Amino acid sequence: MADESSPAYLPGAFLLAVSAIRAVPQLTEKFRTGEGFGWHEHDAGLFRGTEMFFRPGYAANLISSWIPALDGVEEKLKAGAKVADIGCGLGASTVLMAQAYPNSTFTGFDYHDKSIEMARRRAEEGKVSERVSFEVGKAKDFPGTDYDFVTYFDCLHDMGDPVGAAAHVKESLASDGTWMIVEPFAHDRVEDNLNPIGRAFYSASTLLCTPASLSQEVGLALGAQAGERRMRDVITKGGFSHFRRATETPFNLVYEAKP
Ligand SMILES: C[S@@+](CC[C@H](N)C(=O)[O-])C[C@H]1O[C@@H](n2cnc3c(N)ncnc32)[C@H](O)[C@@H]1O
Repeated sequence: MADESSPAYLPGAFLLAVSAIRAVPQLTEKFRTGEGFGWHEHDAGLFRGTEMFFRPGYAANLISSWIPALDGVEEKLKAGAKVADIGCGLGASTVLMAQAYPNSTFTGFDYHDKSIEMARRRAEEGKVSERVSFEVGKAKDFPGTDYDFVTYFDCLHDMGDPVGAAAHVKESLASDGTWMIVEPFAHDRVEDNLNPIGRAFYSASTLLCTPASLSQEVGLALGAQAGERRMRDVITKGGFSHFRRATETPFNLVYEAKP
């Protein structure tokens, strides 16, 4: 539980929770007015806590099971692919992929400049900075075209306009490219999510995800427990013709979308 590389590493959950709770006075006011509260407005511990909490799950699953569950993506990454990781935060997922696929190049984008500064340090520490760049960019206007692979880790539901974000991914992908969307595990119906994991995710959603989405344009506020049916609706409205659940863990759903 104290080994940062183990899937059982837990301190990130506590830093994440304590940092989120620091915003309760402002959030209480935002709930009264209906305004949102942006990810970037939170205590700095939240960004590090999120990295510490999510990275062990990515280290345990991303390379060994999530990418192999996608149609033809692992082969492309091994041969050399152009990849964009959107809403990358401190870049845990980007750096893990870059370390696993030395022939591929990666760009991580996030609208939060302080997260991008830290992600650049992570690329240097992980000895991948020659093939990894981190840039400030929003989901609907990050640059680049002909990406072979675009990834979203636990962030599509945080965005104000996930349909607009999906449409921009479609424009940026190569015609045979793949979009992988990793989301918190959720069933479609609220009553099926009233279990210990769903309860924890609904709490995080109330403090973090829903206010973050409401702070941006459109403010669809999917929340962290959107479920597959709602995600399919968002992604097909964004113009994707292929959508499927590629795999799952008790904590995550992994979707594959293609133009
Ligand atoms: C829950 S964090 C996940 C971070 C990272 N993907 C991870 O798994 O550790 C959500 C991220 O989405 C980013 N984000 C939210 N709205 C965004 C937008 N419209 N464009 C780009 N990034 C956005 C936030 O800044 C934050 O880093």
